[in-house]
Amino acid sequence: MTETDFRFLRACRSQPVDCTPVWFMRQAGRYMPEYRKLREKYSLLDLCKRPELSTEVTLQPLQLGIDAAILFADILLPLEPMGAPFEFAKGEGPVIHSPIASRAQIDALRIVDPHEGLGYIMESIKSIQRALCGKVPLIGFAGAPFTLASYLVEGGKSAHFVKTKKLMYGDPESWHLLMKKLSETVRLYLRAQIEAGADVVQLFDSWIGQLSGEDYAEYVQPHVSYILQDIMTMGKPVIHFGTGTQALLRQQRAAGGTVLGIDWRTPLAEGWERVGHDRAVQGNLDPTVLFAPWPVVEKHVLSVLEAAANRPGHIFNLGHGILPETPVDTVKRVVDLVHERSARA
Ligand code: CP3
Repeated sequence: MTETDFRFLRACRSQPVDCTPVWFMRQAGRYMPEYRKLREKYSLLDLCKRPELSTEVTLQPLQLGIDAAILFADILLPLEPMGAPFEFAKGEGPVIHSPIASRAQIDALRIVDPHEGLGYIMESIKSIQRALCGKVPLIGFAGAPFTLASYLVEGGKSAHFVKTKKLMYGDPESWHLLMKKLSETVRLYLRAQIEAGADVVQLFDSWIGQLSGEDYAEYVQPHVSYILQDIMTMGKPVIHFGTGTQALLRQQRAAGGTVLGIDWRTPLAEGWERVGHDRAVQGNLDPTVLFAPWPVVEKHVLSVLEAAANRPGHIFNLGHGILPETPVDTVKRVVDLVHERSARA
C-alpha cells in the first residue's frame, strides 16, 4: 500500500476512508500471552532497549487486525540520559532514584541528543519498519513535559500531584526551566523518530487534566506549543493526547496536533465540537468497558461510532491505555466490529 492508502493516515488528515481505523493505546502489553511469555525472560527495560525485542513486541498485537503499530518503548526513557535514572519496580510502576527537589537538580539536567542518549529507539524504529514491510503505519511517541515533570518531581505515580504543583506555583522560574529542558529534549526526540521512519507521532500528556485552563495556559501551554508547532512542520500527522481534558480541549487544539485525543468522560460528539470538525479526533471507549459482557461492549462501541457519524477524521481508540487483564478475544471482536459497522457505502 502507498502511504496515502492507509486508512489510519487518511483519517489523521481528515480524508475520506473505507472504514474507521482502530488501534489501542498500550496495545502491546500484559493482556497478551505472547508478551507475558517474553516478560518471563526479559525486564521491561530490556524489551524497550533491545531493538530486536522491541520489534517483536511491537508486532504482537497486529494479529488482531489493528490499523497501526506503535513503537514499544516508554515515555520515561529520556529521563535516564537527562540525568534522572529510574527503574520499573515490580507492582509499583516507575520509581525515579532521585526525584527533583531542588533548583540545583534542575540545573544539572541535560538536554538529550537523541542519537547519543536514545540511539536504540531510532534503531528500533528502523528495525520495526523493516519487519512491517509496509503492512501498517508506525506511530512513534514521547511524553509531554507536564506528564514527564510529574514523574520527575513526585518520584513515581501520584494521586494529587502536590509536589509538582508546589514547584509550579512556588518557584515558577525553576518550573519553566524544567519545562524548557524537557520540551527541548522531547522536540529533538520526536524529530529524530520521524527522521528514523515513524509515520505519525503521539505526544502523551496523560496527567494534564489535573490542571485548570488558567494554569494550563500559564505553566504548560507555551511549552507544548513549542514542541508541536515545530514537529508539525515535518509534515507527518501528530496526535496530541491527554486524559481528563474536557475543559482543556480548545487550548490543546491551539497548542497543536493534527489529531486530538478525547477520553471517555467527554462525550465524543461534544469533544469534537470543541476541537472543531476541521481537526481529527481519536477515542474514546472507556478501557474498562472491555471487561463487560459482549452485548454491553457492542453497545458502547456502536455509541462511539454513532457520535462520530462516519465523519472523516475519526480514529477509534480507547480513552486511555488498555488494561493488563483485558480479554484478548474482546479486543479482536472490537476491531472487527468497528471495521464492519463503520464501512462506508
Ligand atoms: O502503546 C504501546 O503499546 C506502546 C508502549 C508504551 C508503554 N508505555 C509500555 C509500557 C507506551 C505508549 C507507554 C506510555 C506511557 N508510559 C505512559 C503514557 C500513556 C499512559 O498510559 O498514560 C505513561 C504514563 C508511562 C509510564 C509508565 N510505564 C507507568 C506509569 C507504568 C507502570 C504502570 C503499568 O501499567 O504497569 C509503565 C510500565 C509500562 N510501560 C508497561 C508497558 C507495557 C507495563 C509493562 C510491564 O510491566 O511489563
